[in-house]
Amino acid sequence: MTRNVQPVIKVIAALALVGAALYTVFQAVQAQQTNQNTVGTFVAPVDVDTASLAGPVQPIFYRHDIHAGQYQMDCRYCHYAVEISSSPGLPSVDTCMGCHLIVGAGNPEVAKLQQAAQSGEPIEWVEVHKLPSFVRFPHMRHVNAEITCQECHGAVEEMAQVYQASSLKMGWCLSCHLDKGVTTDCTVCHY
Ligand code: HEC
Ligand code: HEC
Ligand code: HEC
Ligand code: HEC
Ligand code: HEC
Repeated sequence: MTRNVQPVIKVIAALALVGAALYTVFQAVQAQQTNQNTVGTFVAPVDVDTASLAGPVQPIFYRHDIHAGQYQMDCRYCHYAVEISSSPGLPSVDTCMGCHLIVGAGNPEVAKLQQAAQSGEPIEWVEVHKLPSFVRFPHMRHVNAEITCQECHGAVEEMAQVYQASSLKMGWCLSCHLDKGVTTDCTVCHY
């Protein structure tokens, strides 16, 4: 029984994901056209001088300013584990393909994405932030304490390429902990 039911559930789940993704785009496009329900009216630049961008060059020129800025996609749509885990997670190729089966055909960077989807190879995103391995940083504790992503990562939704906006030094962690009355006990951050 369960052997037959499982693939069906998977198909339904996949369809729901595509539906939700397309609905997001539809809403964003509609909001743009009517200029309603938009908090801001941020429009990502069409041409960017890639040579002048901060942060590491990525294997695909994925742009937060288009997705999270102009189309106002929720960070959690892609960084799905940020409320429940130390590590926020990165989106799988399938998450991107929910839209890019259709959207952006003809764009050479989207073509790279579609190629990855066909080959089944994961995309090797280059790490932007990296704490030393002897430091523990639980994302969920911070996000659930209602510290915004931007307080630590800067205005990612306006970045064409992500770069490290804060120092991530011990003094940076400690000054916020002191400011908010959070523990500065060495052992909470160090293994
Ligand atoms: C459509 C999917 C998607 C959405 C929505 C999205 N991101 Fe991302 N994010 C990615 C991908 C893919 C990467 C890896 C490539 C890169 O760094 O650009 C990434 C990388 C990052 C990184 C750097 C990770 C590292 O290696 O250190 C940060 C920080 C980040 N995103 C924050 C955000 C924030 C904040 C938002 C909401 C304002 C957001 N993202 C919305 C897909 C997304
Ligand atoms: C909710 C739908 C949606 C999802 C999910 C999505 N995108 Fe997009 N993407 C878009 C839209 C809309 C555009 C803008 C297309 C346009 O302007 O013609 C776009 C544009 C792009 C472009 C072209 C950028 C440029 O320079 O014009 C690339 C590359 C891209 N997306 C990669 C990705 C990757 C990689 C992921 C997964 C991490 C992803 N997208 C997830 C909707 C989505
Ligand atoms: C209190 C500061 C803080 C807040 C708030 C915060 N981050 Fe981070 N983020 C960090 C630090 C520090 C790292 C590096 C973690 C490491 O190397 O272990 C990081 C790393 C990341 C990464 C890369 C993870 C990886 O696996 O490579 C992503 C993606 C990310 N953050 C997304 C987000 C999003 C989305 C939000 C908001 C929902 C958010 N962050 C909120 C400080 C923060
Ligand atoms: C902008 C403010 C801010 C910054 C920056 C920040 N934190 Fe925090 N951190 C908090 C808050 C607020 C809490 C308490 C959350 C709660 O009460 O659950 C917390 C909790 C924690 C905890 C859990 C403590 C416990 O009681 O178990 C750890 C571990 C931690 N932070 C590590 C770090 C590290 C490592 C950095 C730097 C890389 C950092 N934090 C940077 C605000 C911050
Ligand atoms: C809120 C989190 C946090 C707390 C609390 C904390 N640290 Fe750190 N510590 C960090 C981070 C993040 C780094 C790595 C970045 C850096 O080197 O500044 C670090 C790095 C270090 C280093 C390595 C420095 C180097 O140059 O390589 C030492 C040693 C250290 N911490 C000792 C301590 C001691 C002792 C305490 C208690 C008095 C303490 N830490 C409390 C976050 C914390």
